[in-house]
Amino acid sequence: LERSDLSTKSVNKFTHWDLSKSYTRNLCHSTDEYTLLILCWSPGKESKIHNHPSQSCFIKTLRGCIREVVYGIDEDKDHLKPVRTRFYNEGQVSWMSDSIGLHKIGNPSPESGSVTLHLYTPPFSECKVWNSSTDNASNFEIAKMGFFSVMGLRTPQLEGKKGKFALLM
Ligand code: SIN
Repeated sequence: LERSDLSTKSVNKFTHWDLSKSYTRNLCHSTDEYTLLILCWSPGKESKIHNHPSQSCFIKTLRGCIREVVYGIDEDKDHLKPVRTRFYNEGQVSWMSDSIGLHKIGNPSPESGSVTLHLYTPPFSECKVWNSSTDNASNFEIAKMGFFSVMGLRTPQLEGKKGKFALLM
């Protein structure tokens, strides 16, 4: 993934934006083994804190910058606790799984959009979401993963159940 040279031209087809959302999820390819997505991040917006039921989630920043905040769970106090913050610039790859903890990611730029490539293996269709870092660790909701577009085509019917998909965004 680090070596892949993904020119703007080759991913343009999948970069569908909706500035009224924090980000859009655009499906490029999916098999039983993996899902490949392009996420388009609105300026200054981020995901909610969530987990990753996949074994591995690789993220490559293709355009702009991404900020990731990783959280752990303090089981005794039932609290989420921030563990680290990292920034990823164009071309950099990060890795996430439940063995590391939970995270939220987003676009720190107030002016320009960011684009990321996500490789999830195996694919997953829902995840746990926390509305805020002050939530109790046991106070999560289940969000369904929807798709703003599939293979380059807009898919309003796949955006997910109203409210449920929005939980993550
Ligand atoms: C991620 O954590 O990789 C982004 C969340 C998503 O897939 O919507």
